[in-house]
Amino acid sequence: MNLIVNLCLLALPCIRLFANASPAKSEWIELSYPFSSETIYWPTGKSFNHTTEYANYTADGYYFSSYRISASEHGGTHLDSPIHFNKGGWSTDQIPLDRLIGHAIKIDVSSKAAQNPDYQLMPSDLEAWEESHGNIPYDAIILVFNGWGKYWPDKRTYLGTDTKNTSLLHFPGIHPSTCRWLINNRKIKLVGIDTASIDHGQSTQFESHRILYAENIPGLENVAHMDKLPAKGFTVYAAPMFIVGGSGGPCRIFAHFDANRCMVNLVDGLKSLNGFLWAALVLYALRFLFSRVLVRG
Ligand SMILES: *[C@@H]1O[C@H](CO)[C@@H](O)[C@H](O)[C@H]1NC(C)=O
Ligand SMILES: *[C@@H]1O[C@H](CO)[C@@H](O)[C@H](O)[C@H]1NC(C)=O
Ligand SMILES: *[C@@H]1O[C@H](CO)[C@@H](O)[C@H](O)[C@H]1NC(C)=O
Ligand SMILES: [Zn+2]
Repeated sequence: MNLIVNLCLLALPCIRLFANASPAKSEWIELSYPFSSETIYWPTGKSFNHTTEYANYTADGYYFSSYRISASEHGGTHLDSPIHFNKGGWSTDQIPLDRLIGHAIKIDVSSKAAQNPDYQLMPSDLEAWEESHGNIPYDAIILVFNGWGKYWPDKRTYLGTDTKNTSLLHFPGIHPSTCRWLINNRKIKLVGIDTASIDHGQSTQFESHRILYAENIPGLENVAHMDKLPAKGFTVYAAPMFIVGGSGGPCRIFAHFDANRCMVNLVDGLKSLNGFLWAALVLYALRFLFSRVLVRG
């Protein structure tokens, strides 16, 4: 009886541990929004236009459809090429494939962004992430999660305005000092965010764009469904439309969980267990062992 009670008590912290570590259901995560007339573009841009060239049965009796697309480069889930803010930087066709695929991490500042739509990711947020998860891996893709996807595709809440007045834009971004911190202290290949721009909505100088693109580090904007990603242990694939001379372009982005994600999550889960649970675990383990010794004695 005592043994069963002790085992149950021992199991409690373990259940908590595995609940924390539970991996997502699917191996593959879609990180793009589909393109349609609803897709959000920068206020000064031209929206996605998909018109019919032909969609019907032909005189020969078979079905045929073909449509025409047009849009600005910077709208929906898209890539920013370094040349967007750096005259000598890579255009979309010049970015090597290995710069668009790689190990990624997610930095979650959604609780701060929920309090402040003008929030900017600070170096202290990176330091806090590293305290829980270890150093940002070499040549990583950094995804910044503000929880902004819940507003998509409502322009008023997602951008702060549904007008063309860019002074009214309010959404979170990355602080320029954080970009400098990343460049000076870590080696990263790509940065993504779940808002319309890596600089926050109120930016007029676009410093984070300029700092990162000066180093040929491209950006991903309007990245979708980041809530489904863990803090680390996944690979991101960003496949932009292959536009010669492009300053960016529509981009299919998706993630795949690394094979060792269970181990990674378990270690993170262990690290995030609070003091009380640790104390309970140790206490009941000792008590369990002690009671076994007494029973035998
Ligand atoms: C979309 O394209 C079609 C065909 O080129 C054009 O007639 C129409 O005005 C465009 N719509 C918008 C909203 O730009
Ligand atoms: C499709 O083709 C049929 C004849 O095969 C015609 O009656 C109809 O109007 C066409 N529809 C459209 C939308 O063009
Ligand atoms: C845009 O919004 C700002 C801030 O409210 C305002 O001062 C400015 O007059 C607006 N500009 C236009 C063209 O409406
Ligand atoms: Zn852009």
